Amino acid sequence: MSSIDYIKDNKQKFLDELFDLLRLPSVSADPAYKNDVLKTAEFVKNSLVSAGADNVEICETAGYPIVYGEKIIDPKLPTVLVYGHYDVQPADPLELWDSPAFEPVIKDDKIYARGACDDKGQMYMHVKAFETMMKTNSLATNVKFMIEGEEEVGSDNLGIFVKNNKEKLAADIILISDTSMISLDTPSITVGLRGLSYMQVEVTGPNRDLHSGVYGGAVANPINELCKMIASLKDENNKITIPGFYDKVVELTADERKALNSAPFDLDEYKKDLNINEVEGEDGYTTLERAGIRPTLDVNGIWGGYTGEGAKTVLPSKAYAKISMRLVPNQVSDEITELFTNHFKSIAPDSIKVKVTPHHGGEPAVTPTDSVAYAAASDAFVEAWGKAPIPTRDGGSIPIVSLFKDELGLDTVLMGFGLDSDAIHSPNEHYGVTNFMKGIETITLFYKHYANKH
Ligand code: BES
Ligand code: MN
Ligand code: MN
Repeated sequence: MSSIDYIKDNKQKFLDELFDLLRLPSVSADPAYKNDVLKTAEFVKNSLVSAGADNVEICETAGYPIVYGEKIIDPKLPTVLVYGHYDVQPADPLELWDSPAFEPVIKDDKIYARGACDDKGQMYMHVKAFETMMKTNSLATNVKFMIEGEEEVGSDNLGIFVKNNKEKLAADIILISDTSMISLDTPSITVGLRGLSYMQVEVTGPNRDLHSGVYGGAVANPINELCKMIASLKDENNKITIPGFYDKVVELTADERKALNSAPFDLDEYKKDLNINEVEGEDGYTTLERAGIRPTLDVNGIWGGYTGEGAKTVLPSKAYAKISMRLVPNQVSDEITELFTNHFKSIAPDSIKVKVTPHHGGEPAVTPTDSVAYAAASDAFVEAWGKAPIPTRDGGSIPIVSLFKDELGLDTVLMGFGLDSDAIHSPNEHYGVTNFMKGIETITLFYKHYANKH
């Protein structure tokens, strides 16, 4: 039987299994879900075993385990190392979901569930592509799987695992489906990802909450001061004001910018989809550039004082914010964290105290377009989608891509099948059934072309 027939014949089985996987609430950020995360690792392990992988194991770490499996058909053949993650973002705010986040349903040919796209749906395509190749006797390279459970919380333990298991993970190329493509009509391959520095700041004013009438006007309000400080982090042209922030940023050449902006993009559609009247961002750059090749600074959350029902007249003692910066080549996460920390402390008025705590970070990455693996991925898209994929830069982060390069010396092919409109990390996350099914086919074609080029 051909691969294509096997995939077609097993569509319902593949979807039923994915639904079982999506029913497990593997939220890595919230300890309340610990057992579910561990059960999900078991599920991934069992799925690799039944697909035909050897040496499948649950590798314990200081955090959630990494699931490993492999099929070595001939040590002389090239080896593909597949990476994915089985953990998901929290489903909150729950009330904004049209159907429960962990009870997957198909509506308009889309699978709705937390993790449907990021990354259970995309990761599971690789397991099913592997099963397809095993069952149809068409696997033409060696393959290794490394599926982790801490991607959404910074992959801290994966770094240690990679450093300690270089031989086990020896391969020729990393293959990841955890990014998006332009549209069903315009396939693309991601060739760049942004990095990340994520900070929490705490501003303290008086030693206790005060009556805002008795003290208001005479004592600094930490929320007011925090707002001023945050507002000053960008100037009137939306340039980030932290000294040194742009020093290492690689400017793209005019040709590279032209190529990037030639990707199909409809600004009116974009605004309509988000229900905004106007876009906003760094002067001198297009929306595609602002969201892909330029660094950013965003407040992710801000709190303090009284937020309950009604009004309480209070001058709070403390205010907090979570602030993230997306980084581009060749910015370095730790350096940006330090620049931020020093600057934020330096702009604090004497009337308050500031504490800055870094959360996780990660490095940006660019992947080559002149490699055998990229050519194989491109051929696979041409065969499955009828069009050559456009190379694009995504704004999100997968910090382990740069780690794989540094520790294993391996390049990555980012063969993502999600769409930006899939609402990953948001309520009503979904993933197209077509993306899922065609993705499985494209992955099997990648192996075929990759093997043929050797
Ligand atoms: N799969 C995403 C990253 C992504 C999404 C890349 C869309 C390109 C397009 C990944 O799961 C993710 O959410 N990463 C985090 C970073 C991490 C350190 C928490 C992110 O980008 O916020
Ligand atoms: Mn992901
Ligand atoms: Mn994610």
